[in-house]
Amino acid sequence: MKSFTRKSIVSTILIGSVVAGSAFTTLPFTMNMNPVASAAANSSFTQFLHENAPGRTIKTSGGLATVTNLSSTVVLVNKKRNLPSTYAPQDLVVPNIPFSFSGSSPKKQMRKVAATAIEKLFAAAKKDGIDLKAVSGYRSYATQKSIFDRNASIKGEAVANKTSARPGQSEHQTGLAMDISSASAGYDLQQSFGNTKEGKWLKANAPKYGFIIRYGKDQEKLTGYSYEPWHVRYVGVYIAGEITSQKLTLEQYLERAK
Ligand code: DAL
Ligand code: ZN
Repeated sequence: MKSFTRKSIVSTILIGSVVAGSAFTTLPFTMNMNPVASAAANSSFTQFLHENAPGRTIKTSGGLATVTNLSSTVVLVNKKRNLPSTYAPQDLVVPNIPFSFSGSSPKKQMRKVAATAIEKLFAAAKKDGIDLKAVSGYRSYATQKSIFDRNASIKGEAVANKTSARPGQSEHQTGLAMDISSASAGYDLQQSFGNTKEGKWLKANAPKYGFIIRYGKDQEKLTGYSYEPWHVRYVGVYIAGEITSQKLTLEQYLERAK
């Protein structure tokens, strides 16, 4: 598994380790680096994006398009790209962050890399006097199916699919997503969360810890989902910074990197 930050791109090469979670800066990551290390870093990162390009990470069988880079931090899951029904991440853990509910639950889990990053995000929020609570992380295919089926039975499939992913199409199955809310939004997953000071803080600060607001306000046509100010997706610090500053969707960012 690889996760890139401007600094980690180089440490990946120099010491073979990946450092996730350091805050991104606005400086180009190659600045002040020895040109050989810088060229190697760029080339490794380009290779990483190339290997994870949408056209290279899909397999169609029996009419179902399934993603192949399941455990990549940049796995692209959407209405055209399904996870296998049998897929569950192997490194799920419960992050040490406050939740909106008590007791143990599978939905408290995230993949290790995302859990470590979200702990840093929540610690930074607390330091800034921002009281966030996690609402829903990992969901199995079966759990997503029961959520979607219930929503579809109430609203009809088409309306339900504007806010709820079909089973196999939810980022929550990747273990890289978390829904976050606040007392000021009643711990609800409503668009009004985006207008709270907590929602604004999340939008401004999530990329520093490797997360993007995956379903942006003016991106409904591109993502296929309504604006979800509460849904953050881990992609790594460097990529989150690029996607956010350039106002891209994950689809657009990865498509550019062919
Ligand atoms: N609400 C998002 C789209 C999901 O169900 O995964
Ligand atoms: Zn979500």
